[in-house]
Amino acid sequence: MTVPPDPSYPVVIEAALARLDLGAKCRLLAGQDLWSLPALPEIGLASLVMSDGPVGVRGSGWTPDDPSLTLPSPTALAASWDPELARLAGRVLAQEAHRKGVHVLLAPTINLHRSPLGGRHFEAYAEDPLLTARIGTGYVTGVQESGVAATLKHFVANDAETERFTVDNHVDERTLRELYLAPFEEIIAAANPWLIMSAYNAVNGSTMTEHRLLQAGVLREEWGYDGVVVSDWLAARDTVRAIEGGLDVAMPGPHTVFGPALAAAVREGKAAEEAVDAAVRRVLLLAARLGLLAGAAPAVPVTLRPAPIDGSAGAREIATRSFVLLRNERQILPLAPARMGGPRSLNPAGIGGIALIGHAARHARILGGGSATVFPRSVVSPLDGLRAALSKGTPLTWVRGADLSDGLSPASDGFTLRAVLRDANGAILAEQDLPDGRIRWMAETLPGESDYDALDSVELVGTFVPRTSGPHEFGTRGLGTFRLAVGDATVHDGVHRPAEADPLAAITGPPVSRGSVDLVAGEPVEVSLLASDPKMTYGSLRGVTFGLAHREPTGEDDELIEEAVAAATAADTAIVVVATTETVESEGFDRTTLRLPGRQDELVARVAAANPRTVVVVNAGAPVEMPWRDDVAAILLTWFPGEQGGAALADVLLGHAEPGGRLPTTWPARLDEAPVHQVTPHGGVLRYEEEGFIGYRAWQRHNSKPAYPFGFGLGYTDWEHEHIEADASRAVRVRLRNTGSRPGRTVVQVYVSPAERSVAGAPARPERWLAGFAPVTADPGRTTDAEITLPVRAFQIWDTTAGAWTTVPGRYTVHVAHDAATPTLSTELHIAG
Ligand code: BGC
Repeated sequence: MTVPPDPSYPVVIEAALARLDLGAKCRLLAGQDLWSLPALPEIGLASLVMSDGPVGVRGSGWTPDDPSLTLPSPTALAASWDPELARLAGRVLAQEAHRKGVHVLLAPTINLHRSPLGGRHFEAYAEDPLLTARIGTGYVTGVQESGVAATLKHFVANDAETERFTVDNHVDERTLRELYLAPFEEIIAAANPWLIMSAYNAVNGSTMTEHRLLQAGVLREEWGYDGVVVSDWLAARDTVRAIEGGLDVAMPGPHTVFGPALAAAVREGKAAEEAVDAAVRRVLLLAARLGLLAGAAPAVPVTLRPAPIDGSAGAREIATRSFVLLRNERQILPLAPARMGGPRSLNPAGIGGIALIGHAARHARILGGGSATVFPRSVVSPLDGLRAALSKGTPLTWVRGADLSDGLSPASDGFTLRAVLRDANGAILAEQDLPDGRIRWMAETLPGESDYDALDSVELVGTFVPRTSGPHEFGTRGLGTFRLAVGDATVHDGVHRPAEADPLAAITGPPVSRGSVDLVAGEPVEVSLLASDPKMTYGSLRGVTFGLAHREPTGEDDELIEEAVAAATAADTAIVVVATTETVESEGFDRTTLRLPGRQDELVARVAAANPRTVVVVNAGAPVEMPWRDDVAAILLTWFPGEQGGAALADVLLGHAEPGGRLPTTWPARLDEAPVHQVTPHGGVLRYEEEGFIGYRAWQRHNSKPAYPFGFGLGYTDWEHEHIEADASRAVRVRLRNTGSRPGRTVVQVYVSPAERSVAGAPARPERWLAGFAPVTADPGRTTDAEITLPVRAFQIWDTTAGAWTTVPGRYTVHVAHDAATPTLSTELHIAG
């Protein structure tokens, strides 16, 4: 529960502001390091700490020694279609933030799924602005009612990664308002997030951190937003244009365009001190809300925070509620307990039971890459989850099945590594253990408080005990001069510094393979990766970022597939887990294909041919092509399911829980069939030529059929819509019945279609759009009623001539639907002008 704004805030803030000189005010508007703003003891202001977001709270470090509870990906959360569940996620994360001393969570990401190729697709909620806004509102509410600030990001139209620092997205005004700005507007009105993050990209010619029209104009003046606008990391480029464009805080520090540079601009008469004061007021308001400013009570007193939540249970519940059952022939799922272990599990070919197949069944991919990365406390893989849930004696075998083509991952399993920091004379400055062979240090926070200027080399050194014999592949991550030795072999000695536009490439770039060494299982070998020029500068950041990557030997692909086919043939049920990897779905780059990496498609096809009871689990944060989709018995989409993913998977496969998700994004059969997929700018410009027609709006317009429509998802029971009615106050009532044999949950989806799609002088409206939804539950045979009030905005368009929203009067059909392509009942609604 949030208490009303403290009436003393303005007084406390003005008094504090009056005691700050220009230098101090400008310092407050700039990061003092990667994640925090400086304390100003003279006014009783504590340092404010920020952290990513959105599936966990990483904290101020970027290493596995500060682990975080890891929730399912944002696409998964949105697939629940349940704002209350999103609120629970927010509360869980706020609890983590308190635990880690974090005040500001850099989440949620509310950009839209414009193209399935978007590298951060997994990190955004949906292709629809209403669903995005509702899930975002739940999340922000949960975070902030717990006394932590949420940050809506990235303002605005940051929907792809290619040339992300410089791309100029050309979006017409109406599309911007109705689609890309809409979730920001609704969440600000409903939940007032205390920060907004200004994006890297430009919109219609102006880079976002300097965008007067959108930041000072739309956000502040029109929407009355009173929170802080913080730059995306390194997005602020120009002191004067940024402060005048409405940016409050430039991150990260210590070298930013604000701080001393801003004070100098004011002294030289290039920037107005009033603009600085206005930004400082907003930062002080944020600090007051968080309880960091002396004399101001926090917006949420400790005693009013929600009761503590069991984070693991929350992670597991969110995962089960997000899984989308796309196919379930002959009701193969849930797997009947009688089939497993008992005599019925024996098939003529062999031992019966379950063959669990796939690299990701054992090495689960639980989150997407980039700044959304956190380090989980522990991970329940599908193999762990099933093993724990199945009764003893149920045969369960695991085989890899196929190698994921780019399987280099951080050197953790079997590695004992430490980093050794040396000066130019070879003297050791400090040493630090490294649990996963990855270094991400800022200059100011080197191990042992080592002096960055004195640092000359960093060696990552230790032993590796292989689990399997054969050729082990080693790789490096990051930019610089590396010498990599394994045992007596020098695997690599050279410079890696490709011409790369993205200054964060060293952090977000994929690992590079350097060669392989034959090793014997159980025989330890010495490993050393020496970075002889370890210092990196990324824009204004200085630090050390590199790592060692490794890939276990795998059988020849043909052998792996044959092994899987044999296991599937011998089992009663084959469960194949297919997945994408960090080099497929990550911040920093877009995808080029929706195909699964490696020979996973072939693997599924072969397994399905061998066993008609083949269940495919799709472990991906965003759409993938599934050419075998009509040939397998069941398909369960588990997204990036967070640290409890394997436990949730067992719950769902064995029927302890129903897979509750519905697609928050249209799933194309093939990339080239997706009406909108272009993410590559031409001459620095990416034109949103499709205007408002993205996602299901575009599929309808092109009259084409995806593999699975927006809103689609089966459950373990069936539902029939029995009645719909709507009244003049836009209240829609739907009666529906659970016609199956299990208690269940579904999402009542309400779409509206205008009788008249064209509006004088404006581009046509879509055929049908989502106007409201509600998750409901019912016991078998029972009915339930959903009452959904449709927002006025569902009947409005942005009138570019008037510069205002205008209601389009007339007759609308209100549909209740199982998904965007399957309306069932409808009623008429007349909207007055
Ligand atoms: C991302 C942001 C993130 C920030 C800090 C940026 O690269 O775009 O979403 O919050 O880094 O890690």
